Amino acid sequence: MPRFAYVNGRYVRHADAAVHIEDRGFVFADAVYEVCQVRERCIVDLSRHLDRLDRSLGEIRIRPPMPRAALVGIMREVLRRNRVADGMVYLQVTRGVARRDHVFPSPEVRASLVVTAKSLDPAVSAAKYAAGIRAVTVPDNRWGRVDIKTVGLLPNVLARQQAKEAGAQEAIFVDAEGNVTEGGATNLWIVDRAGTLVTRPADHAILRGITRTTLMDVAAKLGILVEERCFSVAEMLEAREVFVTGATTICLPVVSIDGKTIANGHPGMTAQKIRDAFFAVAEKTAI
Ligand code: PDD
Repeated sequence: MPRFAYVNGRYVRHADAAVHIEDRGFVFADAVYEVCQVRERCIVDLSRHLDRLDRSLGEIRIRPPMPRAALVGIMREVLRRNRVADGMVYLQVTRGVARRDHVFPSPEVRASLVVTAKSLDPAVSAAKYAAGIRAVTVPDNRWGRVDIKTVGLLPNVLARQQAKEAGAQEAIFVDAEGNVTEGGATNLWIVDRAGTLVTRPADHAILRGITRTTLMDVAAKLGILVEERCFSVAEMLEAREVFVTGATTICLPVVSIDGKTIANGHPGMTAQKIRDAFFAVAEKTAI
């Protein structure tokens, strides 16, 4: 079955989808994006993702390409054309096409919008969840505004590749003080020695993950206390549980970091309880 994408006003075959060579997303990574999970023909946490998109656009001063209702219509249409029941929908907004010049185009040009979707097999994610994943730590060498979800992901790309070459599935960024910031494409959580669920405060040093926000609602519902504070690599290695969260995988236990086994080397109870309760709490928007 052919795949389809939406590019600047048109639904096109994925294989033929293209943007201009002077699109500022391509030239400068002058663009922001969102990834939403799709589960059982529903977009998960759509409102929160679109709120964050609005915030990202505002932070880098790109005018939204269209009203929210129209954007949701396109997301639905791309999902339907690709027959996605379980998977993800990706959207990217760039500052548009203009002759290469670092400053914003003047007069302003229209933002570019690309929407794609793909199916993902829930069984693959379940298998990953059951086994847990391995991770490596890497210095966090990213810019100071990673709270904005921009497509400027080169440090994340290099970190994930380093993880892969070390036989791991995620890289964990560590700041200059030796504290954990987040994963290459996930937020990080520990259950500390006292049994408290801990994650780093969402300042400018991490992306405020939508899964992270909804997980806090899930924890509240389950009566699990969440503490937002910094934690060191040493504390993480001694934790009772470590797990990562992100839109496509929800929550994945980390069972080994830099070759050291976490707790007993198996996924923990807290991650399990949260994963089991997650979709009942998350917002679901039918395709
Ligand atoms: N990544 N931190 C980073 C650096 C991320 O790239 C992501 C998401 C997250 C988790 O955010 P959320 O819960 O909203 O997905 C945290 C997406 C999935 C990606 O780039 O593919």
